[in-house]
Amino acid sequence: MSELNYNFPKTKVQLNQLVADISQLTVIIHQTHWYMRGTEFFRLHPLMDDYMDELNEQLDQIAERLIALGGSPYGTVHEFIENTGLTEEKVTFGQYTLKEYMERLVKDYEYLRDQYQKTITISGEEHDDPTQDIMNGFKEATDKNIWMLKAYLGKGPFDD
Ligand SMILES: [Fe+2]
Repeated sequence: MSELNYNFPKTKVQLNQLVADISQLTVIIHQTHWYMRGTEFFRLHPLMDDYMDELNEQLDQIAERLIALGGSPYGTVHEFIENTGLTEEKVTFGQYTLKEYMERLVKDYEYLRDQYQKTITISGEEHDDPTQDIMNGFKEATDKNIWMLKAYLGKGPFDD
């Protein structure tokens, strides 16, 4: 028992990275939900609600896993923006078409996918199998969102 390490320091750092990133991604998606305009509004506006619901569940599970490991999740908007790898961009009505908003969203989801993959690798290296289990499901859900958004854009899942 004493030979095992239950501290998982790198996994905890990476889980907090996800807390910051997912928090910022929900802000970006809310912005998209509010600022989109176009013929597909009635389909894509509620889709953003579905994305936010999914991300909020992932965020809560990640933050609570971090707490269970003895960590302290970021809990302020300043911490989120200081630590996320996603950008903050003020937009105006008419600045982006609906298609451009979805292209923007694909890039952000691809970033999140890469963070999930990184967390799978790090939790594997530290033998934090329960965290890796959680990450596997979230990565799979993110892959699916990317596939569907790319299909909407007329592309395959790994096309530029
Ligand atoms: Fe709404």
